[in-house]
Amino acid sequence: MDTKRIVRLYWDKRCQTYDKGGYKSQNKTQHFWKNILKNAVRTDENLRILDVGTGTGFLALLFAEMKHTVVGIDISRGMLEKARQNADKLNLTVDFMHGDAENLPLEDETFDIVINRHLLWTIPNPRIAVEEWSRVVKSGGQIMLIDGKWYDSSIDMRLRRFIGKIFVYMTEKRNPCMFTSHYANIKYQLPFYNGSTPNDVVDIFTEAGLKNISVDNLEKLKQFENENRSLSYKISNKPSLFLALGNK
Ligand SMILES: C[S@@+](CC[C@H](N)C(=O)[O-])C[C@H]1O[C@@H](n2cnc3c(N)ncnc32)[C@H](O)[C@@H]1O
Repeated sequence: MDTKRIVRLYWDKRCQTYDKGGYKSQNKTQHFWKNILKNAVRTDENLRILDVGTGTGFLALLFAEMKHTVVGIDISRGMLEKARQNADKLNLTVDFMHGDAENLPLEDETFDIVINRHLLWTIPNPRIAVEEWSRVVKSGGQIMLIDGKWYDSSIDMRLRRFIGKIFVYMTEKRNPCMFTSHYANIKYQLPFYNGSTPNDVVDIFTEAGLKNISVDNLEKLKQFENENRSLSYKISNKPSLFLALGNK
């Protein structure tokens, strides 16, 4: 089975539980992330923003709430369905579309900002993807990427992940092994499956011809996650996330 089909199958199943675990307070989380976004990109006027790998619409909905015109794209129809439900609940309008981050069904130079969060690790061809995002962004527009190091192979973290799986099973009522059973078959096709570093992303952005490249190590996010993440998440994960920006 091809890599993207397995990615899609996983997220089509995961959509049922994606919004349930994770954070203690959704409101606090949304407020915190809105501030991160306001500090990172222009939010002064009505902009056209594309959220690639939008999932259940986390970033897309925050930008819609800030009165921007937002398109959210995802390879999983299940995640998109949840995103639409989330938009309805909040009475927000986002154009959620089915599509592949590496081959966007969109015209050249039509967005002011292209954003993505927690997508790079599950992309088979990151360089092609960033070139594609650059194709649809207007000249002078911005690309914002949020990802980081996900996988720590130390014995301590292996043990914690094992215990975390039991917690996930008990508290989120989902099978944590579903992730491994899907991604074990394809992880070698995903160059950043274990995560990426700021240098990795700076290299890809540079190769795609982006300018004014900068990286924020999101130090405040570490503290926020410590205080606001659910116990099951904190046991299994110690990601080191960053936000990278580049201009076309
Ligand atoms: C970890 S989730 C992140 C969702 C959302 N960005 C967030 O921050 O909550 C990864 C998402 O990327 C989507 N995805 C994976 N590969 C993709 C691709 N090639 N094109 C578009 N979306 C993709 C998955 O379906 C999933 O919804």
